[in-house]
Amino acid sequence: MAIERLVEPTMAQGDAEEERIEVSLRPTSFREYIGQEHLKNNMKLAIDAVKKRNDGSTLDHVLLYGPPGLGKTTMAGVIAHELGASLRVTSGPAIERAGDLASILTNLKDGDVLFIDEIHRLRRAVEEVLYSAMEDYKLDIVIGKGPAARSVRLDLPHFTVIGATTRTGSLAGPLRDRFGIIHRLEYYKEPEIEQIITRTAGILNTVIEPEATELLATRSRLTPRIANRLFKRVRDFADVNGDGIVDKKTAEKSLEMMETDYLGLDPADRNMLKLMWENYGDRPVGLTTIAALTGDEATTIEDFYEPYLLQLGLLARTPKGRVVTEKGRKHLQNDKNMI
Ligand SMILES: Nc1ncnc2c1ncn2[C@@H]1O[C@H](COP(=O)(O)OP(=O)(O)O)[C@@H](O)[C@H]1O
Ligand SMILES: [Mg+2]
Repeated sequence: MAIERLVEPTMAQGDAEEERIEVSLRPTSFREYIGQEHLKNNMKLAIDAVKKRNDGSTLDHVLLYGPPGLGKTTMAGVIAHELGASLRVTSGPAIERAGDLASILTNLKDGDVLFIDEIHRLRRAVEEVLYSAMEDYKLDIVIGKGPAARSVRLDLPHFTVIGATTRTGSLAGPLRDRFGIIHRLEYYKEPEIEQIITRTAGILNTVIEPEATELLATRSRLTPRIANRLFKRVRDFADVNGDGIVDKKTAEKSLEMMETDYLGLDPADRNMLKLMWENYGDRPVGLTTIAALTGDEATTIEDFYEPYLLQLGLLARTPKGRVVTEKGRKHLQNDKNMI
């Protein structure tokens, strides 16, 4: 990607400062985790049941899916915390060989939680080892090579996998079937985003006025990570250009500088809609064509940028491709989008 986008829903690679702040803002308990009531209620119930049974049984494997920045990694930490379990974190692309997974699994203890981020990116050979591990806590490994090779079954501790993915569609059926609890994270409501901004301001010792909180919430794409990121930019702006207090004026000025419009769209979102509209009007456009128009990867568009535009109804998905909706067209034509 050519430009760094503020709305970039993933964390900037290798940005240690951002990572440190993100970790410090991460809720650790159900009480601190704002919104997603349905998910929280289901998880509380499941966790209480495990605790009540107290017979060594573990929580069912949990699959969390939904757009980036909505709190999947955070929820995995909360679940482990509420279970009183240790959390081991890895990701699909990080597990290169079946042997890597085997060593992770054999180092777990009973009751541990293994968080696998981007689980849709597991390699096939690794995925197959994971099936039997999840199903009956057995590890099948092949010892030796050629005719002398033999297969052995090892017992594994009883652990819980929490998988996170932005796309369930590309998760192999057999893997999906191994999850007893499958949950989609929803976009947040604006008042919930306001609560998250207020909480963040408190943790970072910054005074923010309610009108500024409201304004930031409308620009946050209903996504906690973006709310926190916007908040940090606005706070920096207030520190440099004022007395450090985030009021409505400061918020307006810095949002204007960032070119986020009143729906939280940034120039790249508007550019994508504009290119689609100018080249195809209200006809459907295939994902790869959109990617060619904007210069992004098709998966980036599908996983990161499109979900929010779909949620707002500016874009629609049809069997033949994506179309700019009437609402999308109107948004493009409105010059007053910035405020
Ligand atoms: N429900 C929530 N309440 C408060 N803050 C949240 C919530 N969900 C996410 N966050 C904040 O947003 C950031 C990004 O969340 P994260 O769990 O990393 O998203 P995901 O894994 O879905 O991409 C976290 O660091 C946390 O500060
Ligand atoms: Mg995550």
